[in-house]
Amino acid sequence: MNNKTNRFENLTFDDFRKLATDPKLSRHEKVGFPDSYREGKEDDIFQDICGKLTNLSLPGKKVLEIGPGCSELPVMLAQLCERNGGQLIFVDSDEMLTFLPQAGHITKYAGTFPAALGNDLGNWVGKTDAILAYSVIQYIFTEGNLWSFVDHCLSLLADSGEILFGDVPNITMRKRFFASAAGEAVHRDYTGSDKKPEVIFNQLESGQMDDSVVLGILARARAQGFHAWVMPQAKTLPMANRREDILIRKP
Ligand SMILES: C[S@@+](CC[C@H](N)C(=O)[O-])C[C@H]1O[C@@H](n2cnc3c(N)ncnc32)[C@H](O)[C@@H]1O
Repeated sequence: MNNKTNRFENLTFDDFRKLATDPKLSRHEKVGFPDSYREGKEDDIFQDICGKLTNLSLPGKKVLEIGPGCSELPVMLAQLCERNGGQLIFVDSDEMLTFLPQAGHITKYAGTFPAALGNDLGNWVGKTDAILAYSVIQYIFTEGNLWSFVDHCLSLLADSGEILFGDVPNITMRKRFFASAAGEAVHRDYTGSDKKPEVIFNQLESGQMDDSVVLGILARARAQGFHAWVMPQAKTLPMANRREDILIRKP
């Protein structure tokens, strides 16, 4: 890890546990983001989430957040659920969960999803109204079994239940952007040089989610009887030019 950006690359669940306990890091850095990516942006991000995961705004809903981390986003979610008389489950490492609020409507499970829920998982099958995993599934893709993770999430949904796999980094989307005039302009501003960004489409991209994975999630969910869409992030969001969201709904 040579610099600040590199220390946030290729993180594992255990790496996040270490970041969470490092007192020198800000709450954004503890969840793997340089401050510049998140500071002052969380209200916009939460608004974007609520515009997609519409069940969050309805009364009395059962909500699960997988990988909430310890930024303000899960705090905002906890407040929204409380106002709406909903129940909220957080699943993440103990090190992350300790930063999150304690309240009667919140249950915390320490560990990875779905294993952390143990026998309680069955209580939520077919009964969950909203599942949020924001900036999380890329880590399941590299470290776990993405298809098992997706299927477990699908199995939990109640009728009309929704899943938002948000803030998904898609390397092909990133390449499309940096191959465009808009991407070149962003690159010029960022680097201060006229050199064009290097974009190579036909090479191995180990560990990177791409169109095939994003569209594969849609295809799998749809084949199993769920509606599923890829949605753009609001343009005000810090990584909207290279990340997108997946929304799934049980009809
Ligand atoms: C990049 S952070 C995102 C945190 C938060 N959702 C946000 O956007 O601010 C990824 C989070 O996912 C958690 N995580 C990774 N794999 C997980 C798993 N299998 N189950 C639950 N949490 C997981 C990490 O501990 C970390 O808190």
